[in-house]
Amino acid sequence: MKFNLAKSDFGHDFLFGAATAAYQIEGGQGPETRRGSCHWDTFAATRGNVVGLETGVTACDHYNRWPEDLDLLKAGGFDAYRFSFAWPRIMPTGKYGGKRNGKDALNQMGLDFYDRLIDGMLERGLKPFATAYHWDLPSVLADEGGWMNASVADRFADYCAVLAERYGDRLASIATINEPWCVAWLSHAMGVHAPGHRDLRAATRAMHHVLLAHGKGVQALRAHLSPGARPDVGLVLNYEKAEPAFDTDAARHAAATWHALYNQWYVGGAIQGRYPTMITEALAEFMPEGWQDDMSTIAQPLDFLGVNYYTRVRMAGLPDAGFLALESVPGPLDKTQLGWEVYPQGLTDILTWLQRDYTGNLPLYVTENGMAWADTVSGRDGAVQDQQRVDYFESHLRACLEAMAQGVPLKGYFAWSLLDNYEWAEGYGPRFGLVHVDYETQVRTPKASFGAFQAMLA
Ligand code: FCB
Repeated sequence: MKFNLAKSDFGHDFLFGAATAAYQIEGGQGPETRRGSCHWDTFAATRGNVVGLETGVTACDHYNRWPEDLDLLKAGGFDAYRFSFAWPRIMPTGKYGGKRNGKDALNQMGLDFYDRLIDGMLERGLKPFATAYHWDLPSVLADEGGWMNASVADRFADYCAVLAERYGDRLASIATINEPWCVAWLSHAMGVHAPGHRDLRAATRAMHHVLLAHGKGVQALRAHLSPGARPDVGLVLNYEKAEPAFDTDAARHAAATWHALYNQWYVGGAIQGRYPTMITEALAEFMPEGWQDDMSTIAQPLDFLGVNYYTRVRMAGLPDAGFLALESVPGPLDKTQLGWEVYPQGLTDILTWLQRDYTGNLPLYVTENGMAWADTVSGRDGAVQDQQRVDYFESHLRACLEAMAQGVPLKGYFAWSLLDNYEWAEGYGPRFGLVHVDYETQVRTPKASFGAFQAMLA
């Protein structure tokens, strides 16, 4: 199984990588690692939140098996690896008062782990693309209200300063936050991710504070980089093309609302210092006081924007359901294991829309794209034949080429994910990896889709 594509179709400088996130793969949570607890540990341990009560306690044991995983990236011919730092592994309470009084607040073992990981990437010729926050909020900060409390932005900035000082000279790129929509709405209005709130005021505050943390995080990163260190500093946002499911005003309104709440809020804040008025009006009573004064801090100059894209959403629009009439209905297209429609056109549309309305010449990266399937290792030849995933990647890579042909400065593409891993509230069932993981034995088996990248990148 091969892609009908050549690496050269994307130009000389285009980077190919694969992505992961700390909580989803590391494990390494025992007391001997001195990692602090995070809100996902306790959310996952609470009945009803995660399929099968599964947690990230062991995950892919990447904490111990990282050399093998980096070897896989190298063998695949990838240029770059997108990974995340675990805040509670570096700073167990999430708090650090600076060099003079904060020494004990840092976990030396955690700091050393990421030294080894980053050096391991450099030894293998892989460019380190880091994310500071991919959802593992330290529990002590969660106790204080987490993303609902404005002070989380200052704690996040302290954490970013430590990352810049310690690792900045070895990173190719660092993004502050992965998918602020998930941090805010999915976790505080829909209750699907930690901390599992279903509360409009909580969500509105999180929507603003997560971007305030981004802005202060960018300032801290830049202020604490050593003189020679020049990683690109950016943000990773997720997008869903929102389309009305029916030819009704209600469905059109629901699609426009979703688009504003999901797609426009975060890029509008971070790039233009402006939120969509339809949302600030609808949520006005819940916005933190004086939020307008934060907008210039939020809109920091960036070196790149990361785009995570998986699918589209088709909004139904129920009459009389108020602002939250945001129900979606399944569409007619082929679906992945999670029921997500396969819609590559949406990726071209999102990239060209972003460039036209927001980002202009700012370099863009597809920082996540991929699909879940219930892959199995064949008993006969030990192979994983994931033809659907090969097709998914090829069609979305073509969608990238189409956007580039239309003038989008797209600089790279990261497949989600290197490994099958802990898919949050869905547990270990959905498999997104280029590499199959047997969670009993931790044996890694590259799938046919891995081979397709390997052949293209060779
Ligand atoms: C994204 C997350 C990533 C993974 C994929 C499937 O929303 O950033 O951690 O779970 O979805």
